[in-house]
Amino acid sequence: MTFSAKDLAAKIPPAFTLGIATAAFQIEGALDEDGRGPSGWDVFAAKPGAIVDDHSPAIACDHYHRMPEDVALMKHLGIDSYRFSLSWSRIQPGGSGPVNSAGLDFYDRLLDQLLASGISPMVTLYHWDTPLPLDEAGGWMNRDTAYRLGEFAAIAAAAYGDRVARWCTVNEPATVTTNGYALGLHAPGEALLLKALPTVHHQLLGHGLALQALRAANVPGEIGMTNVYSPMLPASINPLDKLSSGLMDVAQNRLFADPVLLGKYPDAIRAATFFTSFSPSDEDMRLISQPLDYYGLNYYMPTCVAAGPGEGSVPPGMAEAMGDDLSGTTPGAPFHITSFPDAEITAYGWPIKPEYMAVALGEMAERYPDLPPVFITEGGASFEDVIITDHASGQIMIPDERRIRYLAQHIATALEATAPGGPAESIDLKGYYVWSLLDNFEWSAGYKQPFGLLHVDPGTQERTPKASYYWLQEMLAARKDAAAAAVGAVISTGLEPEAEPEAEPAAEA
Ligand code: BGC
Repeated sequence: MTFSAKDLAAKIPPAFTLGIATAAFQIEGALDEDGRGPSGWDVFAAKPGAIVDDHSPAIACDHYHRMPEDVALMKHLGIDSYRFSLSWSRIQPGGSGPVNSAGLDFYDRLLDQLLASGISPMVTLYHWDTPLPLDEAGGWMNRDTAYRLGEFAAIAAAAYGDRVARWCTVNEPATVTTNGYALGLHAPGEALLLKALPTVHHQLLGHGLALQALRAANVPGEIGMTNVYSPMLPASINPLDKLSSGLMDVAQNRLFADPVLLGKYPDAIRAATFFTSFSPSDEDMRLISQPLDYYGLNYYMPTCVAAGPGEGSVPPGMAEAMGDDLSGTTPGAPFHITSFPDAEITAYGWPIKPEYMAVALGEMAERYPDLPPVFITEGGASFEDVIITDHASGQIMIPDERRIRYLAQHIATALEATAPGGPAESIDLKGYYVWSLLDNFEWSAGYKQPFGLLHVDPGTQERTPKASYYWLQEMLAARKDAAAAAVGAVISTGLEPEAEPEAEPAAEA
């Protein structure tokens, strides 16, 4: 497999979107400024021991103040689209009721700058930072939070609907349920285990209500949602390991995708207490399974699962980031995550297995025959970057070849898997968003897991492009050159192009 930017560019169809993604709480900082209200994450992150080394999100990447510089860096990169999330607490500090105009203004300016820079905006409504008053009222355990998200979607649609090319209602509800409510590793820090199941239905209902509000506002942008997908592999041929990986597949993948794409919860989950005593109404299921313009998939890695409570089996980086509770040693745990014996790992301890991108897409294609067009809405890797200073020129270099390799292999695999003859040839793959623009506040791992194409100096906040930034820049430029040459060839032969590259809707507006 080649990692050359030019070779990869040649494989990328002209209409394929290459984007970059962030989330508000991970980059903005300015938590107490211009009328922003507190979020559940502000409170959780302030608890001693909740975040690695008690890192604080108070400044994060200072993006709230450096937004124009960050947009300029994206323009220089040449990216097609930028996926970012709205801070609900900045726009509607109480989570319901009055709107904060200073908060609205920030994203107004961001959207205008993106469009002026030729970058198509993709907006995530909910990327985990619930307004504190809603968390205090039970957060996603409370059905009312879903209605509040619907209301927030209507506010966002009215303010930004004319400029947003693509909406993502909810990002990775599985992570919120598992880390936030089942294990207590993310805000709001609840360790309810299986009692966390209502948060699944309420987040999916929130997605449905947000989607309904965006449709009612007639926004021209495409509307979808994002689930994370991790193929589950049994650690051995032992039938108990197989059963365990099947259960993980239901709990992490199918539980969140089936209701949206098939309109029903997986049968296997019906045995859980919440579902034996709860029968979602037809109206809830109708809202959850409304047609989507696209489906967002976050793919980072596959997961290897073994039966029973495991001793020290979670890779050290991951255990550190997630806290002692998740080291796989929970007494009585029915199964645990274990490492792939042969895999290269990221700084998080996540296995690097690009071939499982094809497995993920293949499983999605098989399970959901009516899948709408798909965007990989996140993919990337954390590595401890090495900063090299050239003493003669004073220039800084960050040679993150492993990140380049990760991105090249995953993008190429996704394209091959969805091409004719590939395991997911029925999927209309529309794009790939790199996680992430900046080294940022990686939730409970603080600033210990850098995913950015731009290094951020924690003291000065200075942004330094890594080699991966220049690699992506070269690829984007090569792709544009190839597209321009193709148009030139068509003009000189007088032939019509076979298909018009699809324009990103709002970038043109
Ligand atoms: C989330 C991001 C996170 C990334 C890396 C995704 O699950 O959407 O917020 O930073 O993974 O952990």
